[in-house]
Amino acid sequence: MLILATLIAVLALIEGINTGAVFWIWAIVMIVALIRPPLVERIVVPSREEPQPIDPEVLLRMVFAGLAALDIPVLIIDREASVLVQNAAVEKAFGAFPAGAHISSKLRSPGLLDMVRETIATNTPNQIEHSERLPSERVYIVRIAPVELPEADVETGFFLLSFRDISELRHIDRMRSDFVANASHELRTPLASLRGFIETIQGPAKADPKAQQRFLGIMLDQTTRMSRLVDDLLSLSRLELKSHIAPDQKVDLVPLLGHVRDSLLPLAGDLDVTINLHMPAGKVEVLGDRDELVQVFENLMENACKYGQEGKAVEVTLLNEPGQAVEVVVSDSGPGIPAEHVPRLTERFYRVNVEDSRSKKGTGLGLAIVKHILTRHRARLIVKSEVGKGTDFTVRF
Ligand SMILES: Nc1ncnc2c1ncn2[C@@H]1O[C@H](COP(=O)(O)OP(=O)(O)O)[C@@H](O)[C@H]1O
Ligand SMILES: [Mg+2]
Repeated sequence: MLILATLIAVLALIEGINTGAVFWIWAIVMIVALIRPPLVERIVVPSREEPQPIDPEVLLRMVFAGLAALDIPVLIIDREASVLVQNAAVEKAFGAFPAGAHISSKLRSPGLLDMVRETIATNTPNQIEHSERLPSERVYIVRIAPVELPEADVETGFFLLSFRDISELRHIDRMRSDFVANASHELRTPLASLRGFIETIQGPAKADPKAQQRFLGIMLDQTTRMSRLVDDLLSLSRLELKSHIAPDQKVDLVPLLGHVRDSLLPLAGDLDVTINLHMPAGKVEVLGDRDELVQVFENLMENACKYGQEGKAVEVTLLNEPGQAVEVVVSDSGPGIPAEHVPRLTERFYRVNVEDSRSKKGTGLGLAIVKHILTRHRARLIVKSEVGKGTDFTVRF
């Protein structure tokens, strides 16, 4: 650096630059170079101490503690298939193996035992799908592999069994395929009927304008039903996309419920049902998405009118007691819902009576949509129903 600065200064002098300026540049560079410690001193070379070898016993204890903490059931067995080591997850899943017990004392599936035998004989890893009925239905991928020491070429005679729980995955798979099957089935029925009517109009009813008019009316109904279904399906998938974003608008429930009631007046009139609102004075605000909340209360009030028609009246009560959650209760005095159906009402396509729902223009998706919206709003849907007396659907914010 010193040499470089001097060189620059000399070159500058040769080129005939203002000597005063050159002197100052030279002086500043020299000072900086002198103040900063030399490069070599600035590189801190870490002193490399030899790593202390960990006591094998401590290491072993750490490995055991790690196995115990693992949330996947793990067993170590010997050549006789006797259990040497089991972790807490094993005890939780299958109950504890008595000390030194054969694995067949708890795991009796012939496929699994065959796999274990084969691995012990051939010293090669294997895996199998295994399901347990008790204490609850569970599906596992069970893997067995010989325990090998990386540097030694000897067989240890120990084998590690691990159980990966895939029950949840299976459940989601089943739900997805059920959903596709249900949706296709719901669309196939009106499509088949449309096709039948078109064929009739083209064939036997070719010259019968009166019959044609009647069939066209039914065809219009069927296409409307399909559009309703597609609308509901789209609604559900849109809601799924934004399920993790909490809504942040302030919504006053008083005018909202009034608006929903008004929009349902034609339907209620046709069914000869009155919808009575019971509201506190003033505003009742919650954080929400206005359109979605309209959809929730439309669904609940429409259901109460349709399925509770014989009760003649639907009561909608908004509760805003100090210190308590805001609640909206939609109650009817209809036939009620038998208790075994109540927990399943919000499943997609679940209906207490399929024909009854279809005849009332239901898709079986209404309450599934309601539940999705309420989950996004961190609100709950509570259903209380008594057969012969009626049903209360409560939304608790
Ligand atoms: N207020 C009610 N009284 C009796 N049954 C009801 C009521 N609300 C809903 N249900 C039952 O729950 C089912 C599911 O409702 P929903 O998801 O809205 O579907 P949909 O109305 O399209 O059939 C309905 O088919 C009906 O059997
Ligand atoms: Mg409905």
